[in-house]
Amino acid sequence: MPSTTAASQIACAFAPLRTLETDLLLVPWFQDEAPSGVPGLDSATGGEIARAIASGEFAGRLFDVFLAQTTDAAWRPHRVLLIGAGRAPDWSAEVARQVAAVGGLAARARRVGRAALVLRATGEPAVLAQAIAEGLTLSEFNVGSHKTGEPPPAEPPAWTLTSDQAGDSDARLAAAVARGRLLAECSNLARDLSNEPGNALTPREFARRASALAAEGGVRVEVLDENRIAELGMGLLLGVARGSSEPPRLMVFHHDPPGGHRPGAPVLGLVGKGITFDTGGISIKPADGMERMKDDMAGGAAVACAMRAIALLQAPIRVVGVVPTTENMPGGRAIKPGDILTSAAGKTVEVINTDAEGRLILGDGLWYAQQLGATHLVDVATLTGACVVALGKTTSGLFGTPAAWVEQVRRVALRAGDRVWPMPTFDDYREQLKSDIADIANVGGRPAGSITAAIFLKEFTGALPWVHLDIAGTAWAEEARPYLPKGPSGVAVRTLAELAFEKFDV
Ligand code: BES
Ligand code: MN
Ligand code: ZN
Repeated sequence: MPSTTAASQIACAFAPLRTLETDLLLVPWFQDEAPSGVPGLDSATGGEIARAIASGEFAGRLFDVFLAQTTDAAWRPHRVLLIGAGRAPDWSAEVARQVAAVGGLAARARRVGRAALVLRATGEPAVLAQAIAEGLTLSEFNVGSHKTGEPPPAEPPAWTLTSDQAGDSDARLAAAVARGRLLAECSNLARDLSNEPGNALTPREFARRASALAAEGGVRVEVLDENRIAELGMGLLLGVARGSSEPPRLMVFHHDPPGGHRPGAPVLGLVGKGITFDTGGISIKPADGMERMKDDMAGGAAVACAMRAIALLQAPIRVVGVVPTTENMPGGRAIKPGDILTSAAGKTVEVINTDAEGRLILGDGLWYAQQLGATHLVDVATLTGACVVALGKTTSGLFGTPAAWVEQVRRVALRAGDRVWPMPTFDDYREQLKSDIADIANVGGRPAGSITAAIFLKEFTGALPWVHLDIAGTAWAEEARPYLPKGPSGVAVRTLAELAFEKFDV
């Protein structure tokens, strides 16, 4: 069951803190900040803040929280929650986003009806306001449960962003807040999709739900069935789908800019891996942890939900999205190691390992994005365990060419709160993918496993500027963090959406 409900806007109120009609005032608090840091607040709590700081109970360390009551009857907010914001010089939009999410989760845990977060004015206010709106909204995600005896999770409070700084422009901040709200709502929608079990989210159901989400936002959507996929010659996607009794689908999303597309203007092509469950196929995975492979469509969900954001925010360029979706199953008609498949691009692939299925379906997806006129490609995929070994669970692998395009995506991703780190794609890695019998093999052995996967994809990019994000480690949080519960993270949605607002120089 989808857990994210359509939410109300985050209000902006620029007034003295004591006048706010709210149940809980959330105040980011810096390390080594004096009790007088927020004028009037300490005395409103009867000196509780000064006491907690003096005793060391609360020191503003990142993500620590401290709850105090207001004792001053002139203060409308009855409770104040300080949220450790860490060292003031380290404050950034990303820290603000996380601090807001910590505050949001704390407000929900306390089941308050209304909560207001104070914008601490260091940095560009609109950038901070957007990030904070994102953090609060991300905290609304419900990890969900199919337990029948449990009460539903607490409704999120009505949020207000507040600042008592003179000179903050209401209109500019309100627009930034609305943008952050929308982007993070789309992240949460992608998280809902990733969370769905494989029996509920079959390729057909994924296509139905993801295309409905995009279409509601104003995206033109086509869903190609197995017959159309065959007509297009997508032998890689069809090959992976053979092992399953569920038919594959190809989702195609189109966004056109409000003023129409100018000939010669760039066209952003987004391609997402949509494996609704990855058993490994005949090269079957070990049972231990295989249940996690229900989120092997997180890249596809990110593309669909980013397309929704792109349309709702009326991005100024044409964007096409392509999400091939299938199960990877070991059925009686499944492809076998040694089989040769012919891609839509015409290249032949020797399938050495049926568990390297993501790169196969993406090969056909990247080709199709070019058919639709894409000039700049970005693909997103839970592609390799090797990327998790290389970069761990908090950083996505960033691959691609040319360097300037990779750098542009890197900047946008870091701003959007999706941590990425560049990995090399030197030509000599291509050696590892040599096949004796076909144009290319689908695996390159253990060394540099995430890189050879990227090199495989590169064969299908038609030499266009292309970036590949390997989100195998980042799509799912195995352990809760203060700002992120266990479960799907919604990685890459905001990066893909924000990219559609960039000027392309490459
Ligand atoms: N979906 C997996 C990658 C993955 C692994 C995602 C762990 C999330 C967590 C992918 O299809 C896969 O199985 N990759 C293989 C490639 C290998 C056979 C070359 C892998 O990483 O083991
Ligand atoms: Mn696999
Ligand atoms: Zn996979």
